[in-house]
Amino acid sequence: MTEYIGVLTSGGDTPGLNAALRGIGKSAQGLYNMNVIGFKDGFRGLVENRTVHLERGSLSGILTLGGTILGTSRDKPHRMPVAGKLMDMTDVIVENYKKHHLDALVCLGGGGTQKNALSLMKKGLNIITLPKTIDNDVAYTDVTFGFDTALSIAVEAIDRLHSTAYSHHRIIIVEIMGHRAGWLALGSGIAGGADVILIPEIPYDIKIVAKSILERARKGSPFSIVAVAEGAINKDVAKEAHKLKEKTDKAVDKSEKSKLRNELGILEKLHEGNSLRLATILEEITGIEARVTILGHLQRGGTPSAADRLLATRLGTSCTEYLKKGTYGVMIAAKGEKTEAVPLEKVAGVKKLVPLDHDWVKSARAVGTCLGDE
Ligand code: F6P
Repeated sequence: MTEYIGVLTSGGDTPGLNAALRGIGKSAQGLYNMNVIGFKDGFRGLVENRTVHLERGSLSGILTLGGTILGTSRDKPHRMPVAGKLMDMTDVIVENYKKHHLDALVCLGGGGTQKNALSLMKKGLNIITLPKTIDNDVAYTDVTFGFDTALSIAVEAIDRLHSTAYSHHRIIIVEIMGHRAGWLALGSGIAGGADVILIPEIPYDIKIVAKSILERARKGSPFSIVAVAEGAINKDVAKEAHKLKEKTDKAVDKSEKSKLRNELGILEKLHEGNSLRLATILEEITGIEARVTILGHLQRGGTPSAADRLLATRLGTSCTEYLKKGTYGVMIAAKGEKTEAVPLEKVAGVKKLVPLDHDWVKSARAVGTCLGDE
């Protein structure tokens, strides 16, 4: 029987985390008399045994709050910086789990958290996770909470940028979060009517982008909005990265493999967040003045949207049902009108990228948006 549960939030903060904590806490205590203890700052708080009791009173009034009342961090249990060194702290986590007589631990997080949760499950802990991230890149769930809020923020920004781009006859490049997955840039670009959308899944050709901007100008619209995901990459760099990745996969020698992996990391880092360079080049080719707006952490801040509050509450309360049944080692996913328990082994390490034949991609092309490749 599940009587004592621990909860933590891990990875980048996301609107809706508090709504989920409230959903778990209120239903666990109200329906099943469970004791709920929160760990501060993600897995670090679990290692350092920093806790808060999440009694019903402390869960009131948090539904609409952004961020997470527990605090968060990107610390990984098996590679945690401790006194200047990266240490495997999983045994300490197991000890603290036992010290609190926990029957289960609920981890609210994105892709990284699913992997960390799996490694703790393999150490014998009863784990359940919920999928959160503004990037919407967790596999086996229709959507993650936080995405809808971030989408609205990015769309509002694009709407506002439109009037200034139009008035000054400028190109405005708006950089949107998403290192590997382009859901946020693509979704907000379509909803905001961006003229060009560049996402990591579709390497772009700068000449094609410039051509589409010039074409618009020729037809009487001498301004353009370019929505760019942080991880959007030009096709030459993508080719180089692909070759390096193939070499890395083939390398047998461990040190050679890690050297190549580093090189690949540096190459990708060098070309991420390249909106400023993109602006300079587009200005040069088109002769149209260009400006850049980087939305950054604005996209993660503030009160969650109604849809995210609803989703987070639904997943949180459903999580309690699974805890009650003693279903562990799973992520609670949104599937249509229902929720589903997906084994952590299945979800950990899998990223949900934008499929090239996705409806959003087709719709964007159908309304004449340039995706940088044709
Ligand atoms: O949580 C995912 C994400 O929002 C990415 O899209 C973004 O690149 C990253 O977090 C940045 O987060 P931080 O600055 O907190 O490391």
